[in-house]
Amino acid sequence: MIVGVLREAQNGEQRVAATPSSVTKLLALGYDVVVDAGAGDRAAHRDETYRDAGAVIGDACAADIVLGVNPPSPEQRARLRPGVTVVGIFSPAANAALLQEMSTRRVTVLAMDAVPRISRAQSLDVLSSMANIAGYRAVIEAAHAFGRFFTGQVTAAGKVPPATVLIAGAGVAGLSAIAAAGSLGAIVLATDPRPEVADQVRSLGGEYLAVPDADVAVSTTGYASEVSEDYAARAARMYAAQLPSTDVLITTALVPGRPAPRLVTADMVATMPAGSVVVDMAAASGGNVEGTVAGEAVVTRNGVTILGYTDLAGRLPAQASQLYGTNVVNLLALLTPVADGQMTLDLEDQVQRSITVVHNGSILWPPPPVHVTATPLSAEPAAPAPRARLEPKRTSSAARVAVPILVAVLLFLITAAAPPVLRTHLTVFTLAVVIGFYVIGSVHHALHTPLMSVTNAISGIIVVGAILQMTSSNVLVTALAGVAVLVAAINVVGGFAVTRRMLGMFHRESA
Ligand code: NAI
Repeated sequence: MIVGVLREAQNGEQRVAATPSSVTKLLALGYDVVVDAGAGDRAAHRDETYRDAGAVIGDACAADIVLGVNPPSPEQRARLRPGVTVVGIFSPAANAALLQEMSTRRVTVLAMDAVPRISRAQSLDVLSSMANIAGYRAVIEAAHAFGRFFTGQVTAAGKVPPATVLIAGAGVAGLSAIAAAGSLGAIVLATDPRPEVADQVRSLGGEYLAVPDADVAVSTTGYASEVSEDYAARAARMYAAQLPSTDVLITTALVPGRPAPRLVTADMVATMPAGSVVVDMAAASGGNVEGTVAGEAVVTRNGVTILGYTDLAGRLPAQASQLYGTNVVNLLALLTPVADGQMTLDLEDQVQRSITVVHNGSILWPPPPVHVTATPLSAEPAAPAPRARLEPKRTSSAARVAVPILVAVLLFLITAAAPPVLRTHLTVFTLAVVIGFYVIGSVHHALHTPLMSVTNAISGIIVVGAILQMTSSNVLVTALAGVAVLVAAINVVGGFAVTRRMLGMFHRESA
């Protein structure tokens, strides 16, 4: 069979359904591949590279299996032969007329956006691939529109606080946005009605904000169901409390088959600091934020920029084409079990049934429901304070109890056996360790390097004190002094090296 790769006809679409690398994989499945001329131009894939990969440049609409990102245009549809299979993002729930037309053309339609969210189908899940890219791009767009750093810095010209980014909805796009904003150095807070995402948020360095005292339900489908009125009201109060100290808000809230839930009102946006940015990823389905205009950037009267871009994944066309192309190859691998270039559709298979929305002149949408069980996690306690707090590293509860007891027993034994002068020193030492642990442990990572400069001074004092003790007649004291000099010297030298490197970042390269 021949697989055709369409040149996308939709205005502004930069993605392509197959890259030269995915063409190689389609050939390995036994297919011949025809690519429309210029299909990959906007994703940085020239016709020559497709040819080098083994494809022929020709008419993709004449193929047996036609691959696109979007549904074919009316002109492309008119050239499809009866009996062909068309693969693309069809939004079947919103495109009844198109499905009807395809059924009269006796074309089989495989909707890549109808892949069920189950682990077996993950490698075909285009919505997740695209949402992952879009979440990342949402942060890049926000950073571009935001007039300040995301990361906190202490510079010769003054202190810069880190930006606070609030992510509403911690699904695929939300988690990707949390990771991207965190990697830029922002303080990231995230909220979601599904309590099972709390650990995922934390594992990406974000802080999970639970809506105070709200009822929550663990999802059995991988998607949220609509929240109760009580939850929505409590969430609204949380947003109202949070937004005045939020620099960037990224909303990704979605309940499948429903219009986007309205989370944030215009009055709440009006409380955000001037210069702050909102990225409403749900703009295409009505928006989570009042004032969003789909496809546009608008600036409110109080200077908040609201970005309602609906093509965020397409704004990284090479990346999006690579992941989309891989999802399509995985689909064709599923449909071509013996790699003989012959596609077989098994409607008994849950995944294949879900994505087949038109077949043999019939519309098969919607498919029977698919249930998945998310790992239930304990419900979250009440919401933490509005600003991010640093979570201590997790240790097992046994270790958490045993280590302090062991240290306390050891210290007691040493103190009991020590002469009175040493006892005083040990007490001061122990207090210093405890206070130092809590002080340094509570300092944000971004400020650790300047802090190191301060500890350099302390290490300097330790070096001087230890050198004075080196001449002691007691071998133990001399040995301890030697160790102290060594350790403190490492800290001093390391601290200077890192600080020097930091300062180097402010020097211009000489021409
Ligand atoms: P998802 O289903 O993985 O995540 C949606 C999340 O919203 C879920 O975790 C859900 O629990 C949460 N949610 C539902 N109701 C909520 C509420 N009332 N408050 C807070 N959170 C709530 O969906 P995915 O794939 O992450 O997509 C997110 C949104 O991004 C969708 O609206 C999607 O259409 C949109 N999107 C936009 C793109 C663009 O270019 N603008 C590109 C890709 C996706």
